[in-house]
Order: sequence, then C-alpha cells, then structure tokens
Amino acid sequence: MTSHNQPEVNIGLVGHVDHGKTTLVQALSGEWTDQHSEEMKRGISIRLGYADATFRRCPDADEPDAFTAAEHCEEHGVDTEPLRTVSFVDAPGHETLMATMLSGAAIMDGAVLVVSATEDVPQAQTEEHLMALDIIGIDNIVIAQNKVDLVDRERAQDNYEQIKEFVSGTVAEDAPIVPISAGQEVNLDLLIDAIEREIPTPERDPDADARMLVARSFDINRPGTTWENLKGGVLGGSLVGGQLEADDEIELRPGREVEEGGQSEWQPVTTDVRSLQAGGESVDAATPGGLLGVGTGLDPSITKGDALAGRVAGPPGTLPPTHERFEMDVDLLERIVGEDGGEVEAISTGEPLMLTIGTATTVGSVTSARGGECEVALKRPVCAEAGAKIAINRRVGARWRLIGVGTLRE
Ligand code: GTP
Repeated sequence: MTSHNQPEVNIGLVGHVDHGKTTLVQALSGEWTDQHSEEMKRGISIRLGYADATFRRCPDADEPDAFTAAEHCEEHGVDTEPLRTVSFVDAPGHETLMATMLSGAAIMDGAVLVVSATEDVPQAQTEEHLMALDIIGIDNIVIAQNKVDLVDRERAQDNYEQIKEFVSGTVAEDAPIVPISAGQEVNLDLLIDAIEREIPTPERDPDADARMLVARSFDINRPGTTWENLKGGVLGGSLVGGQLEADDEIELRPGREVEEGGQSEWQPVTTDVRSLQAGGESVDAATPGGLLGVGTGLDPSITKGDALAGRVAGPPGTLPPTHERFEMDVDLLERIVGEDGGEVEAISTGEPLMLTIGTATTVGSVTSARGGECEVALKRPVCAEAGAKIAINRRVGARWRLIGVGTLRE
C-alpha cells in the first residue's frame, strides 16, 4: 500500500541564482529544501534539496482558477481536492555545481526553469542549466517568468521576447512561459495548470525490477549507542523503476572496495530492506518519484558519511554491469557555457575528466580519444547500463566545467 501523498514525479527546479526558486517552492509547498539539518535528522536527506508539493483543485471553481496548493478555497468556502504530489528537486544555483545538477537530472522527469523578469536573458546559470536539460534530454519543461510584480508591462513583454529568443532551437523551444510572482503568489494557478499538462507522471512498469539511484548514505545512530540499539545503515536516493518493499533483498553496485592480500577489489554489497520512508512518512512499499529513505540491515559503518553515494541498488543479480573503464560516444558542446566560456577543444589522451553517471561522480583518465568517441579509465568504478548518459566535465581554471555529454557503449 502506498500513501496517497507519496510523490509520483520529480521536477527539477533550475535557474539563475536569486531568480526565485526558493520562494517559488515555498509558495507551492510551504516548506523548503534548505532545511538540511532538519532533513538530516530524519536521516533521508540527499545532497540535492527536495521539497514535496501537493497540487490541488477547488471543486467549485473553473479551471485554471481552480488550481491551487492551498487545502482550503477561501473564495468558495470549500476544501480543495488533491490532484497529485510532486517532488521538486532543487539544483544549487550559486556554486553552479554542475555535476550535482546533472546527477539530479538523472532523476528528473521534467523541469521548471525560473527566469527573473528583472534581468536580461540569459544570465549565466539560466544558460548553463538549460544546456544541461538539453543534453540530458529533459524536454518536459515549463518556464516560470518570475518577479513580474517588480516590472512594468513593457519590461515584462521585452523580457518575454528575450526568453522566447533564448529558448528557440533548444529543448525548451515549445515550453509554455508563465508570468508569475512567487513572492506575491500571483498566477500560481496558471503555473500548476502548465505543470500538470507539460510534466505528466511517466508511465511505469509495476513489474520492473526495482532500481534505486543512491545519492546519500548515513549512519543515523547517536554516538555511544550500544550494539543492541544500533540501527542499520540508511540509504537516501530515488527509485527510477520498479518498487521496493520491506524485507526485499537488495544488492548495491559497485559495492565497496575491499583489500585482500594486498590487492584491492570492488565487491557488491547485499542486504535487506528493513524500513522505507517516502513523502516524509513510513511506507510499506515505495514507487518511483520523490525522495526515498531505505533503512537496511547494513553495518552503519559501511553507510556512514555518504560512503555508498553513487551506487545503484536493486534485486540481487538484476543490476547493470560495473565498469572500471569504458568507451563512450561523445557529443561536445561548441563552447563552454557562461560568462568566461571559450571554445570547447577536442578531448585529448591523458587528460582527466569528471564524469557524472546517474548519481555517481567519478574522475576518469582518458586512455584514448578519437573523433566522437573516447575511452576512459575510472578512479572509482560505476554501475551503469549501455546507453546511459554521462555528463563530461573538464577542468578549466579552478572549476570543472561542462563540456559535453557521453553515451556509454556496449
Ligand atoms: P538561490 O537558491 O540562491 O539560487 O536563489 P533562488 O533562485 O532560490 O532565489 P530566492 O527564492 O532566494 O529569491 C531571491 C530574492 O528574490 C529573495 O529576496 C526573494 O524574496 C525575492 N523574490 C523571489 N520571487 C519574487 C517575486 O516574485 N517578487 C519579488 N518582488 N521578489 C521575489
């Protein structure tokens, strides 16, 4: 049995710093993702911020006015009905942690791009985030033109034209642009309406093997807990397929590095599901969408401090292969996105690359590169299926910058 408020779809919230992502999620959900310490206490937070919002409709109002996040419709004096619960995944705006943004993208079913009407389009991360959505292939997009309360009609219109021009030829070309004020809670009904139409819950095969991307792992025990009271290690992440139930056996790949006779080797880890948390509450079964916390039978010293982040979990024997090196087809961007972006030069043999695959981030050294393909040897192996998308970052100055996308070969 799943709870009705378990989120069923993950929506990335992207856009330039200060354009209003935090404010928008607050307006839609009454909570915010910056509550890391609060989430940590629950033991299921992940590196990306998550906030769940339940979209509702007023039974006595016409659409789109009927759409709301409020539980009560003041105008008609009736309680509203829940439509669906969505999970917003917040991509950090300030630091432009592209890898984190992209590992979030692996679990995003769609995205809301927040663009402030008060600034020229595009600002650096508006461009960088749209590029990321483009290369990861997320095409269910809604554009929220925010802060329209701060500009006059003419400025709003100019800004709208700039957005139109900016998204032309990209994955967001046909995305609806909804003028809103997250701060003043204006037009949120129109935004919810657009999200309901543009970002449907993906169809999922209920019989598929469970596949969880692990983004964090914890030891939730207080220091000094005696062994009888010790709780097993906790995994945080998102299900991308199938469902997980209490007592299920799961395998994690690549598991952990084990030293044997002076040799180190990566061995899968197997355990069982002891408890599940989704949508902020305990559930007997979890389905894809939102943030999932999985209590396991693992020794918490194995899960402590994100030690199992970047792993893939599922029924034993069903997981994709583990790669210590792989070949990928490469599509490079023409130029590095952002203010100081130069041309992207071809990948060369010997250079280090930072690669993000699912929730795993690893550094690889290029062992051969020619034309549209290259082979890399990884510092840490990854578990991934042929065809998986790989965000490729190159060190430019002091930062890793996104230079393209790879596709894992057979
Ligand atoms: P980062 O998380 O730092 O990337 O920023 P953000 O995109 O989450 O922006 P945030 O929501 O923190 O908003 C930045 C500032 O803009 C805050 O001072 C908000 O109060 C303000 N703001 C956001 N939305 C609106 C709006 O619709 N109207 C007005 N007037 N101010 C807004």
